[in-house]
Order: sequence, then structure tokens, then C-alpha cells
Amino acid sequence: MDSGHGHHGHHHHGQGHERHGAKQPERFDPARAALLDDPGRLEYMPPARLFELLDAPRGGVVVDFGTGTGAFAIPLAKERPDLTVLALDEQPEMLKMLRAKPAAAALSNLKPVLNEEARPYAGKADRILAINVLHELGDEAMKEMVGLMKPDGAILFVDWNSDVERPVGPPREHTYGIAEAVRRVESFGLRAETLAPLPYHYVIRARRA
Ligand SMILES: C[S@@+](CC[C@H](N)C(=O)[O-])C[C@H]1O[C@@H](n2cnc3c(N)ncnc32)[C@H](O)[C@@H]1O
Repeated sequence: MDSGHGHHGHHHHGQGHERHGAKQPERFDPARAALLDDPGRLEYMPPARLFELLDAPRGGVVVDFGTGTGAFAIPLAKERPDLTVLALDEQPEMLKMLRAKPAAAALSNLKPVLNEEARPYAGKADRILAINVLHELGDEAMKEMVGLMKPDGAILFVDWNSDVERPVGPPREHTYGIAEAVRRVESFGLRAETLAPLPYHYVIRARRA
């Protein structure tokens, strides 16, 4: 059931996304989208490092789950024209901002999609990128994400770490510490491998257990 905290009045998506189980019950507010395109972020979350950890196979399908404005999906699609990059978000407002970027329009291998539009890709994603989104995902969203992955695929979770003091990001009580994030991920039939953390983020690679 919906907790009742997750909806900001006028946002009705009709997709049945409930936030039950999510650490942060509120939906990401599109009014805060500019934060996602702050170049300062890329200093403590270097895209090249994240793409290396993602390790997408040549010609593969990557889903950027909770893409927002495509801050990572766009550079990934640009750097790897061999990949099909699904930039997935549940909020049409976010995809609208992504599509408005000239760089996005120029990339034929970048496909902005709402959750339901990604259904034909169930079981087909080689890799899933989940940046700053684990703390927003309810149980249903977690299952949906796992369902997109190929049997031998992997998910790279990079999210705000509650174990460290940070000058940026959501309050620590809305995010996970590493052990807690591992437990959450493993409760969906995945095996989590903890990789070296970034200054403010944990990095977890998950595969089917
Ligand atoms: C904090 S933003 C991060 C965006 C992007 N990954 C980045 O790092 O720039 C989280 C995004 O995830 C989206 N989101 C949250 N839950 C989702 C779900 N269940 N399915 C799809 N998108 C979701 C939100 O709409 C929002 O755009």
C-alpha cells in the first residue's frame, strides 16, 4: 500500500508505483533536476570510473534505471555507440528534460523510456545502472528492475552512503549505509559484491544469487 507520503498532489502517474519498502518515501521532485546536471557532481562520481565498473559487454543493452535528466545515460551512449542505452524514468517530466538536451537527440542508441515502455526488454538487459536511486526504490520497483536483467546480467548500484558524513545529498536517514544496502539488495534474490566506495557513495555490484 502507498504510505501516503509519496505523492505531491498534482503528480499522478497511474503506473501503480508504490514506494513500500523505500528508504526515502518521497518521489524525486523534478523541480530539483538542475542538481543532477551540476558538473561538480562528476568530480566525486566520475562517469569514466562508473562505466569501467559497469563493464557492459560489446553490443549489449544497458538500462539506466531512474535516469533523471540522463546525466550518466547520455555520456555512456556517447562513449559506447555499440550499446543500446535505455534511459528509464517513471516521471515523464524527467524524460522531457532529457529529450530537450541536444546531445540526447543526436544519439540514436539512447532510448528514453517510461517503466512500462521497457517491458519488452524484460530479461534482456546485460547491465543495469542505478545511480542515486536505490534509496528511492520500493519493493515493486526493485522486482521490476531485477526482472529487466538477463540471467547472467549485473546491476551496478551507486548511491549516497549513510556511513559517511557528507556535505551533499539527501539526509542520512533517507539513504542506506553499506551493510543495509547489501541486505536490501540481497533480499531480492541477488548476491551483492561491495566495491571500493566513492567519497560519498557506496558501490555495489549485484548478480542473481
Ligand atoms: C535522484 S534522481 C537520479 C537521476 C540519475 N540517476 C542521476 O544520477 O543523475 C532519481 C531518479 O529516479 C527516478 N525514479 C525513482 N524511482 C523510480 C522507479 N521506480 N522507476 C523509474 N524511475 C524511478 C526519479 O524519477 C528520478 O528521476
